[in-house]
Amino acid sequence: MTSDSVIETFELTKRYGRRGARSVLAVDGVSLSVERGQVFGFLGPNGSGKTTTIGMLAGVVRPTAGSFSLLGATGPRELVAARARVGATLETPNFYPYLSGRDNLRIATAIKGADRARVDECLELVGLADRAGHRFGSYSLGMKQRLSLAATMLNDPELVILDEPANGLDPQGMREIRTIIRDLAGCGTTIFLSSHLLWEVERICSHVAIVRKGRIVASGPVEEIASGDISALVRAEDEMALLEALAGYPDGKGAQRGQEGVIVSLASDDLAALNRYLAGCGIHLSHLARHRQSLEEVFVELTAGDSRTEGGG
Ligand SMILES: Nc1ncnc2c1ncn2[C@@H]1O[C@H](COP(=O)(O)OP(=O)(O)O)[C@@H](O)[C@H]1O
Ligand SMILES: [Mg+2]
Repeated sequence: MTSDSVIETFELTKRYGRRGARSVLAVDGVSLSVERGQVFGFLGPNGSGKTTTIGMLAGVVRPTAGSFSLLGATGPRELVAARARVGATLETPNFYPYLSGRDNLRIATAIKGADRARVDECLELVGLADRAGHRFGSYSLGMKQRLSLAATMLNDPELVILDEPANGLDPQGMREIRTIIRDLAGCGTTIFLSSHLLWEVERICSHVAIVRKGRIVASGPVEEIASGDISALVRAEDEMALLEALAGYPDGKGAQRGQEGVIVSLASDDLAALNRYLAGCGIHLSHLARHRQSLEEVFVELTAGDSRTEGGG
């Protein structure tokens, strides 16, 4: 284990129910590592095991197998102490609708043993200071999510774990949440957030793990995952002749038509060599550029067609 790992899981596994036809292997041997200062996105379709994984980290779901450490802690007692330095929200906060946002946070400080003076700081942080005296029941969904974020910040955590923080929000609400997360990250807080919304993750995360059916299928810095294979986007007047020529290119690993031209996968990123080869075939390109695969393309490729039916939260 590296010393600066804030979260480290090793083959973490959760099976709901007994082994058999009706049991669900929700998390299947997940090993990941989140380092201090990262904004880490845990990305996967509905039903892929994100909430279950977070539940295990938060201590509300018991792992079937595997292990994890949180701020270096591994044993049950150590974990209890470590969790006091972690802020975690699961999807639905339990606030009292007839109490104000501020009073709800005051109750939360009592439960968490946090300093009451933090209440107003946290309301400020999430932009709710001017609505703090209003009943929670009158809040919009975006305000509710922000209050739940404020509640996770009460103990001034080193690590914040957020389960689908922008779920159900409109673009404006999502933007507000993104700003808060960026502010937190700017202050050095490590953030682990789950999402099924890829572009949300792409915009705010430094690192990402893509999970599918309880297993991690890709992980690393966002730009590394997004760049994928080396490929080039090429255009020529005669596309059929271009595709034919590409089929014979020794360094080519396949070509396909895309919306903007032909995308060719390459064994090396020597675009000049590709250009020379095609010119030798009598094909003169009107466009040649390195093609960057977006995180979206990677995500769709890795998780296509296996979003489970919604259930279990
Ligand atoms: N308490 C539970 N009992 C049985 N199955 C559950 C329970 N919670 C979740 N599941 C199942 O485990 C799988 C993963 O669920 P979940 O962790 O909620 O995924 P996600 O958060 O990625 O949508 C799903 O198939 C879900 O139906
Ligand atoms: Mg979930």
